[in-house]
Amino acid sequence: MRGWLTKSLDKQLRTLADGKQIPLLGLGVWQIPNGATTVNSVRWALELGYRHIDTAQAYGNEESVGRALKESGVPRNEVFITTKFWPGAQDPVVEAERSLRRLGVDFVDLYLIHWPQGGPTRAWGGMERAHEKGYARSIGVSNYDVRELDQVMAMATVAPVVDQVQFSPFEYRRKLLDGAEQRSVAVEAYSPLGTGRHLANETVKRLAARVGRTPAQVLLRWCVQRNLIVIPKSTHRNRIEENSRVFDFMLSAADMAELDALDDTGGTDRALEDKWW
Ligand code: A2P
Repeated sequence: MRGWLTKSLDKQLRTLADGKQIPLLGLGVWQIPNGATTVNSVRWALELGYRHIDTAQAYGNEESVGRALKESGVPRNEVFITTKFWPGAQDPVVEAERSLRRLGVDFVDLYLIHWPQGGPTRAWGGMERAHEKGYARSIGVSNYDVRELDQVMAMATVAPVVDQVQFSPFEYRRKLLDGAEQRSVAVEAYSPLGTGRHLANETVKRLAARVGRTPAQVLLRWCVQRNLIVIPKSTHRNRIEENSRVFDFMLSAADMAELDALDDTGGTDRALEDKWW
């Protein structure tokens, strides 16, 4: 087998524009309630070799993420932790301090503005201060389209290095991905399984059967091959494990094209079809 096929999960990394490294696959914990369910999911992920956990102030489960991290015994410096500034609040610095307390850590690896509420640049100065204070090693945004990225970059001292966006073959935001790459912004795919609904798609199921993989693995592998960082969510140990097994096979150009054709955004440069704020 070629070298990349045998690399463990923690060695599947991408270097961000600020020089920091991020594991390509992480566990997303959106919609997992604070308490035992989050603690178990994160603990299982860490046991199974995940070294990247993605939470947010809005999820209300940072405390459980922190507890699982501590209980896992995995050294802090081996785990990449992302949280997100809830833009309904005023100050990213104050909210970062609260996140760090809840998580029980001295810094997060990545701190994102969760969505551009109040305008794309409104909170960026505070994000830079959180970075300056060492609360976040890297800073970025989420749910930003290309125009909004440009607005931040025009006024930034520290440029965003990540844009986390809903992304899958069904939401193949090709212009957004190309625009972000041109600006040295890495795109992270959230809801890569369409919060579960893409798993039942007939094309995905047929392709998965053909390549001898599961629908989830095919959708996640598509993300990896499209140069995305990907953060599937699951509360089941067997699924968390299944989702981690995406670095030991490859989709052919024809498989990728078949999945690309599922896009129903028209290859948009927009981050979202409907805003919730
Ligand atoms: P559960 O948490 O009960 O395991 P997304 O990452 O797009 O948000 O999708 C998450 C949804 O997909 C959750 O409902 C999760 O259910 C489900 N899911 C995650 N991984 C798998 C898998 N390997 N097989 C089937 N369903 C999965």
